[in-house]
Amino acid sequence: MALVFSANLISSYYGNREAADSAYDRLLLASASAIAERMAVREKGLWVDIPYAALNMLASTAQDRVFYGISAPDGTVVTGYEDLPSPPSSAHVVNPSKPLFYDAVYKGAPVRVVSLRAFVIGNTLSGFASIRVAQTRGEREALALSLLKQSAIWTLVIAVSGGIAVWLGISRGLRPLDRLGEALGRRSPDDVRPVLHDVPAEFKPLVAAINSMLMRIDDGISAMRRFISDASHQLKTPLAGLQVQTEMALREKDPDNILDSLDKINVSVKRTGRLAKQLLSHARAVEPSRGFKGVDLARMARETVSLMTPQALSRGIDLGYEGVDTAIVSGDATLLGEMIMNLIDNALRYPPRGALVTLTVTSGENPVLTVDDSGPGIPPDNRKEVFERFVRLQDTPQEGCGLGLAIVQEIGTAHHARVSLEDSPSGGLRVLIEFPHAEKSVS
Ligand SMILES: Nc1ncnc2c1ncn2[C@@H]1O[C@H](COP(=O)(O)OP(=O)(O)OP(=O)(O)O)[C@@H](O)[C@H]1O
Ligand SMILES: [Mg+2]
Repeated sequence: MALVFSANLISSYYGNREAADSAYDRLLLASASAIAERMAVREKGLWVDIPYAALNMLASTAQDRVFYGISAPDGTVVTGYEDLPSPPSSAHVVNPSKPLFYDAVYKGAPVRVVSLRAFVIGNTLSGFASIRVAQTRGEREALALSLLKQSAIWTLVIAVSGGIAVWLGISRGLRPLDRLGEALGRRSPDDVRPVLHDVPAEFKPLVAAINSMLMRIDDGISAMRRFISDASHQLKTPLAGLQVQTEMALREKDPDNILDSLDKINVSVKRTGRLAKQLLSHARAVEPSRGFKGVDLARMARETVSLMTPQALSRGIDLGYEGVDTAIVSGDATLLGEMIMNLIDNALRYPPRGALVTLTVTSGENPVLTVDDSGPGIPPDNRKEVFERFVRLQDTPQEGCGLGLAIVQEIGTAHHARVSLEDSPSGGLRVLIEFPHAEKSVS
């Protein structure tokens, strides 16, 4: 507004000057014409009788000064100021009797000049006599400024009333938003009910976005609560078992029985330790990602295979890696390691001794990690449920917490990878993890 109003004031100042000029120019011309009418050619040359009214009509309240100069057709000055500024050389006179107005500076003051040429004819001379009348610009400037003052006052009135209207409109319009903010501010941290405030149409998308976010937070909180209750339930059982075994061991007198109890306690502690580790692993997998880097999936698979080879040997399983040397995916190395570890752990745990477990990584647009085993596999009907937390197949004799595949699924989702189960050509289960395309950079 300030910019537009300033531009408006500047342009109206120049407009006012033009208007003042065109009004006062007429007076200037009337004065010059009155002088022209009183010119005559006498024996001694050009004769002029300047009427009092001709200069009096230019008298002004601003006490402008008036100058005139009259020259004969031959250029000789008849009367008045000899050095009155002449018309700018650029002024092209098409019609010599047409008056010419121009601005100049005379005796240190800006002046407006009219130059009029009048044809005189007589016995001694004939031709165009020149009349120049100049007037300082005081009155014109005063008029332009007084007009400007009026438009400035109105501009200010418009600006102030516009400002007040905008301020009132915005503060009234934003009041529902204030109320919404206060209501949200008063809520307790676990209150994730949708916002039902009536808001202007412009804010409806904002409220819809807040409600959809609240819904997702609600889902997240519910999932977290379910997980915590599941986890504490899962931990409660082995801990209760441990307590019973410890109490029994404490009551025992026979050292052999004590050793036997300690053995059982040892197994229980290991099992509980594994559960705690898997729970932690799951909690890490569901955390929002902290920025992924280029990770070499093939190298990770090879390294995990060699890390788990002793375990494979102790179970009599042939564990190996086949596939490309490098396959870059964008991801979190710790999580990816955890995922491969869980897959190998299953492949070593469920197939019988002498089984074959092969990890394969293929590169290309979408790197794929495959874990094949020659074990019993998972029937197609159960391939969905095994990804749920704490779900273990009924006829599984080996120990486990039922979290491994849930962890794999969470890590896969975090990496935008597709996790699927198939029949393996080697007879058992094939787990496929298809990664999205990643930039070929390792950091
Ligand atoms: N390679 C496999 N071959 C046959 N059955 C499998 C295989 N991998 C998983 N399963 C079945 O799927 C179930 C779920 O596996 P998951 O890894 O989620 O849990 P878990 O191995 O029982 O426990 P943990 O959390 O200790 O890994 C297993 O209990 C098992 O019945
Ligand atoms: Mg497992």
